[in-house]
Amino acid sequence: MNKYKLFPTNVATFQYDNHKQFKESFLKIYKDKNLKKFDHAQGVDIFQGDNKDIFYDLGEFFKKCASDYVTGFHSSNSSPEDFKIANGWINTIKPNDFLHPHAHRLRYLAATYYLQSKMDCGNLVIMDPRSGVGWLKPEEVVNDRQEFMPIEGTVTIFPGWLLHYVAPNKSQTDRISITTNIALKK
Ligand SMILES: [Fe+2]
Repeated sequence: MNKYKLFPTNVATFQYDNHKQFKESFLKIYKDKNLKKFDHAQGVDIFQGDNKDIFYDLGEFFKKCASDYVTGFHSSNSSPEDFKIANGWINTIKPNDFLHPHAHRLRYLAATYYLQSKMDCGNLVIMDPRSGVGWLKPEEVVNDRQEFMPIEGTVTIFPGWLLHYVAPNKSQTDRISITTNIALKK
């Protein structure tokens, strides 16, 4: 038998070295605010909003992650300047809350930074794209998902077309992440 594992799905994680300092400034500004106002459903772009300055460094880091992702997986030279942040928002998942399966359509990459997360606050669950095409009955699908623990201070990056969701938050703490869509600069 010859085996060909074609077109793997590339997912990478990075450590944001400025996490501690960023979290401090973020909480100073957003501590008493209803963070749900800054989520995707409200059409918010935090990189263009009133407090865009505090997100500047994080935006630059997202672009660096995108560049390292492309260089690392595709062995092609890439620079952060090849990318632009299309938009970004804050995801707050309260205890017992979760996020339905979705993809970030028409965007090259999606990246999520975990600003505040605890054990059992809801893993990022990535679904095998091959099980989503309707060829298999649900009971025939095995090992069709992979879970990532949301480690505070890290960024996870993956292709925008990849279906994913957030498992229920079983902790007593709000799970706060910042998500962005990354596009290629033309
Ligand atoms: Fe997402």
